[in-house]
Amino acid sequence: MTETQFLAPAVQPDEDELDRSLRPRKLDEFVGQERIKEQLAIALEATRSRGEALDHVLLIGPPGLGKTSLAYIVREELGVGLRSAAGPALERKGDVAAILTALGERDVLFIDEIHRLSRAVEEILYPALEDFRLDIIVGQGPAARTLTLDLPPFTMIGATTRTGLLTTPLRDRFGMTFRLEHYEPEDLARIVHRSARILEVEIEDEAAAEISRRSRGTPRIANRILRRVRDVAEVRHQGAITTEIAREALDLLEVDDRGLERIDRALLRAIVEKFEGGPVGLSTLAVALGEEPDTIEDVYEPYLLQLGFLQRTPRGRIVTKLGREHVGAAAHDGPSLF
Ligand SMILES: Nc1ncnc2c1ncn2[C@@H]1O[C@H](COP(=O)(O)OP(=O)(O)OP(=O)(O)O)[C@@H](O)[C@H]1O
Ligand SMILES: [Mg+2]
Repeated sequence: MTETQFLAPAVQPDEDELDRSLRPRKLDEFVGQERIKEQLAIALEATRSRGEALDHVLLIGPPGLGKTSLAYIVREELGVGLRSAAGPALERKGDVAAILTALGERDVLFIDEIHRLSRAVEEILYPALEDFRLDIIVGQGPAARTLTLDLPPFTMIGATTRTGLLTTPLRDRFGMTFRLEHYEPEDLARIVHRSARILEVEIEDEAAAEISRRSRGTPRIANRILRRVRDVAEVRHQGAITTEIAREALDLLEVDDRGLERIDRALLRAIVEKFEGGPVGLSTLAVALGEEPDTIEDVYEPYLLQLGFLQRTPRGRIVTKLGREHVGAAAHDGPSLF
């Protein structure tokens, strides 16, 4: 038996590949989030006709809702180059300077996890974002001088799962801020159908609907479940995905009717059983589950909060009556098959 895997947080290398192949390339392939698409389409059209760089864009939203996809779509729609970096990887001013000076005219600079930039790095970004200017200090002590380099106009696209942690001066430098919302089951069903076409697997409408209902409003999860369901359809059946096969696979994956996975139920149960329903602090809970506090906060909790199964209070996490009923009703999980 292999180690337990969960659909939500894990970024497995082969699935990264899958993410890429299923990633929408153009704005009209990007399903849902209509208001964002509309505003972005207008901004893209306007900047294209003026031949300028697009205003800086901030994308906010839980994991797997399409932030990275949108950044790549902007690049594609503008026909420019893209450089990307993760906030925590940009440690020194020199790292940023190297990236900025390599940018071409109107290129996109995509910075993921932008809430995790260091102060020093943020400070070098301010003039770059505002005036396309880079100030670097050469030399030390009394001989130190500031050198100013002109940068080509470019577009920074920042992505974050947490707004609260972004400093005000940084947030203010974005001309557009978009908040991605969880997807409705109908939109997810469209995504599942589109992915099934790309993966060349047949799927019944009701099977796509079933997957969508259990995907927590998240396209990445819908795509991951689809792939697992496809495995079951190929190995145990004739390949096409019927509603029955989808249900069988979802049961095998231990994704319940609300879209909760084993880890979500373990989280609720830990609070109920070990901490008498709460309140329990995030770090204590993290230790009890053997997970990182950040993962619990960013990946598991948003959906549990949305379902009203969990509450965040100043004194810690509490499982609600609804949450209690949900884990109370289900039988305890047996050993995992995956
Ligand atoms: N609106 C959409 N239409 C179609 N597919 C989508 C959409 N949004 C996301 N996806 C699919 O979900 C996958 C994950 O999306 P993406 O990587 O853009 O999420 P993200 O918000 O950047 O997540 P993270 O915060 O973890 O970086 C994509 O590869 C794509 O296949
Ligand atoms: Mg991303």
